[in-house]
Amino acid sequence: MISPRSADIHAAWLPSEAFRAIGSRRILVSGPGTGAETVLREIERACARYGGSVRRQSPPSGGERPAADRAGADTAPYDLALVLATEQALPVETAARADLRRHRGEGTGTLGEEGFALVRHGDVTTVLADQPGGLRYGLFHVVRLGESAFGPARQIEVHRPATRLRIANHWDNIDVHPVMGQVERGYAGGSIFWRDGALRRDLSRVGDYARLLAACGINAITVNNVNVHVTEAHLLTTRLGDVAAIADLVRPYGIRVHLSVNFASPVALGGLATADPLEQDVRAWWTETTRRVYETIPDFGGYVVKADSEGQPGPFAYGRSHADGANVLADALAPFGGVVHWRAFVYNHRQDWRDRSTDRARAAYDHFAPLDGQFRDNVILQVKHGPLDFQTREPVSPVIAAMPATRLAVEFQATQEYTGQQRHVCYLGPWWSELLRFAPWGANGDTVADVAANGGLVVVSNVGDDPFWTGHPLAQANLYAFGRLAWAPELDPAAVLDEWIDLTFVPSATSDPDLLRRTLHEVMDDSWRTYERYTAPLGVGFMVRPGNHYGPDVDGYEYTPWGTYHFADRDGVGVDRTRSSGTGFTGQYPSPWSDRYESLQDCPDELLLFFHHVPYGHVLRSGTTVIQHIYDTHFAGVEQVAETRRRWERVAGLVDPAVHARVTERLNEQLRSAQEWRDQVNTYFYRKSGVPDAHGRRIH
Ligand code: GCU
Repeated sequence: MISPRSADIHAAWLPSEAFRAIGSRRILVSGPGTGAETVLREIERACARYGGSVRRQSPPSGGERPAADRAGADTAPYDLALVLATEQALPVETAARADLRRHRGEGTGTLGEEGFALVRHGDVTTVLADQPGGLRYGLFHVVRLGESAFGPARQIEVHRPATRLRIANHWDNIDVHPVMGQVERGYAGGSIFWRDGALRRDLSRVGDYARLLAACGINAITVNNVNVHVTEAHLLTTRLGDVAAIADLVRPYGIRVHLSVNFASPVALGGLATADPLEQDVRAWWTETTRRVYETIPDFGGYVVKADSEGQPGPFAYGRSHADGANVLADALAPFGGVVHWRAFVYNHRQDWRDRSTDRARAAYDHFAPLDGQFRDNVILQVKHGPLDFQTREPVSPVIAAMPATRLAVEFQATQEYTGQQRHVCYLGPWWSELLRFAPWGANGDTVADVAANGGLVVVSNVGDDPFWTGHPLAQANLYAFGRLAWAPELDPAAVLDEWIDLTFVPSATSDPDLLRRTLHEVMDDSWRTYERYTAPLGVGFMVRPGNHYGPDVDGYEYTPWGTYHFADRDGVGVDRTRSSGTGFTGQYPSPWSDRYESLQDCPDELLLFFHHVPYGHVLRSGTTVIQHIYDTHFAGVEQVAETRRRWERVAGLVDPAVHARVTERLNEQLRSAQEWRDQVNTYFYRKSGVPDAHGRRIH
């Protein structure tokens, strides 16, 4: 189950040193099933290294509680430092159990499939769960706490995930795609699943990956790209064994496998003449195909579908709605408890730039909001967090507030397509935290995280077969932060970063862990805002090189069919999306945001150019003009990168030399690229506007 990790693969947030506090103690694991088995294996490994000991108390079948005398005197909790047990399997009555019962009496209710309680009495720390899956998360929580889990008494704390489904989507191709490579928008090498057109022979990293996911709270993966090409389509049928092999490796860590499927599969794989979702043959094909999937993988999670989007087939070809399309798959999955994640990323990518009436930002809402209430219960509409496409800054997608009768999942992008491609440091925790806490109906209403609780939170994974997993070693923090925020969206992203630092770097730091911790915070805390400063200004988005999306190209998308424009001219810049004079997009939001975004005065500065076309002399809420803001932020952003590089030099010798060297190499590129961004953006706007920099700095 736990593979021997090759020495040259970075351990990310699970270095063996992180298990030191556990591994030197006496521990009891009591509970049924693979959940407890996995916990036991993890602890055995830690104890073998640090000299502790662990016993497993298997409960008798039938759920009855094992008698204390059968457990033997040496399992009495007062002999132990740590007990991890399902409540049913706790061998003796303990103060911890009494605490949990009292707590439940106060309305805590059940801990659910994944929740756990942690409490410390005297010298014993206890993790209690209702289900064995909770023990796994409890164990990793104790790992995070380290020695402090064994300090003074702790009041009972109950931890339950805020969101049921916490999924990593892999945009991995089995075959290397001629344009997109093996991992679409992947910046960390090849796929950890696939190689040379087949399942990798050595899958040891998949087991390691599952551990990392479980340790941050992620409980599902998809193993193939949302753009399902021919080879990958066969994962649903003739190559299903490959999916099953991956499912076997991740199951011990509570991770379920989902699959991206092609909507035209009945034609492409089944030989039918149509994929029309209302045709009986098509329904029968999905039913039978899905039955076979569950025969092979009984805990299969479900399907992900990108339909009628960027060239993928979909129900529009048959004059059917997306509800018709999603429901046929949902019906096939329902008997087995599976779900279909149906993506809302549907827009016209062949638009005419001259046509000012088409606004790509409107598209998802226009397509999907009218369908609210028409989807089956096991359809989850998967919505990108913003109306465009994972830009550095976008408003929250209005779809999130528009479909009260539909389960929604919100999609984030850890793979840094538009945020520096894992060559730039860009810790996205603060951005995602802001988005999850956003309250579309105003301060007292539900948040984005509340809306997603019943559907899910999805991240496009940033890992590959790179020895550091993520290309840029510091990009590991993004995957970690996604998992933690999906579990507990109220967490402070700086505290999450602290956890990540303490797990990943501090256990092996030989001297001055405080300097290391401080430096990593200085390098990362504000890195997303720094990136924002030297790239596209004030929420206008894009300005990246078309195709690979790396580096500046201010007009790169301006006259393309993709619908991603900034409309800069000699007088001003920005997209008028108001109801009064623009595309009307602001009207897709409920109050108060529909009015705040509509108003030039009230619109938040950072989104001004997303919603308004303004003259360069327009004065922001911050007091500066738009043009001066562009100059100032671009100069400041580059300065910050230079400062980051200086700070990173300070910790040479405090981190693994390979990590230090890789980050240094990336920082050099980041500085080069940031300067290029600064000079192109500033020069572009200086030439357009003719307005000089108030501080007389050099613009080319
Ligand atoms: C972006 C990205 C594509 C991806 C698409 C999606 O447009 O550039 O590579 O396929 O998003 O989310 O489906």
